[in-house]
Amino acid sequence: MEEGKKTIGLLTSGGDATGMNAAIRAVVRAGIAAGMNVKGIMRGYAGLLEEEIVDMSSRSVADIIHRGGTILYTARCKEFMTEEGQRKGAEICRKHGIEGLVVIGGDGSFRGAGKLAELGINTIGIPGTIDLDIACTDYTIGFDTAINTAMEAIDKIRDTSTSHERVSIIEVMGRHAGYIALWCGIANGAEDILIPETYDHDEQRIIDQIIRQRQSGKKHHIIINAEGIGHSVGMAARIEAATGIETRATILGHMQRGGAPTCKDRVYASIMGAKAVHLLLEGKTRRVVAHQAGEFVDYDILEALAMKKEIHSDFLGVGRELIRV
Ligand code: ADP
Ligand code: F6P
Repeated sequence: MEEGKKTIGLLTSGGDATGMNAAIRAVVRAGIAAGMNVKGIMRGYAGLLEEEIVDMSSRSVADIIHRGGTILYTARCKEFMTEEGQRKGAEICRKHGIEGLVVIGGDGSFRGAGKLAELGINTIGIPGTIDLDIACTDYTIGFDTAINTAMEAIDKIRDTSTSHERVSIIEVMGRHAGYIALWCGIANGAEDILIPETYDHDEQRIIDQIIRQRQSGKKHHIIINAEGIGHSVGMAARIEAATGIETRATILGHMQRGGAPTCKDRVYASIMGAKAVHLLLEGKTRRVVAHQAGEFVDYDILEALAMKKEIHSDFLGVGRELIRV
């Protein structure tokens, strides 16, 4: 660490997302290129409170752009939810000379960043979550890799589902949001897509549709169910009992969060990482980097957190149009 240089910190927080390493690399290298010291904070806000802070160099982020996970590790931290924890975090930043902090994570992590900004630490958020559930941006790090991973897995399940002429319910992640389910449902040509934003809990409709489609010659029936609806195993049992057709449930789980990032996740994460550093250089604080209508932009964190995200009607429309045939 060199004296007299501005120092920024960097952490990953909340659920990890593939592509976070590309963003870390970009922050470190853009920071160093701009003449700053960059410190990595391990394990999100938990590591900040434990002072797990390491100097980063260009070499410390070599060979990571293609790797899943986060080299800084990530955590959820209850203590940081308290005012006392946040004050302690800001003090530790000051103690280590950290004037600006880049936080890669989801909405919860941005709330924490907003609190640190109020306490005098310049903070910039980068959206990192496979769920795509951050309202201010149409891109979040990890979503692209997650949908491609899930899509490939669902293709494989479809093969065996067809051979056995079964119904398959495949549950994908997304917490309270249905984006992964909707994208995969469309990409995998599913017979049904269940997402929390629109699901009406009408299982009889699903059952009637399966029976109708079997009568019209369909050999399999793929239902993509979002985690926010859940209960795939029970749903499978009820569908099998009502239709007499063998039904299996598969929960894809954490495989959706790992693996090598797609080209898009590497490139967008790199651009967002560099942009976060540029915002700090301009003296900006409490901002979140976003991608909207083809451009990389930034918003005030509190305004961004107050925005409401709605699924574009074109996605819902095509989903509905293509599955009823
Ligand atoms: P994500 O960032 O993916 O939404 P979480 O909601 O789990 O994940 O938040 C990650 C961490 O951010 C939490 O463990 C906590 O340390 C911090 N955090 C979340 N909400 C707040 C809040 N309201 N105030 C301060 N810190 C918060
Ligand atoms: O937010 C990412 C995510 O993978 C969600 O899709 C899921 O609901 C949650 O995290 C799982 O969290 P954990 O890794 O703590 O089980």
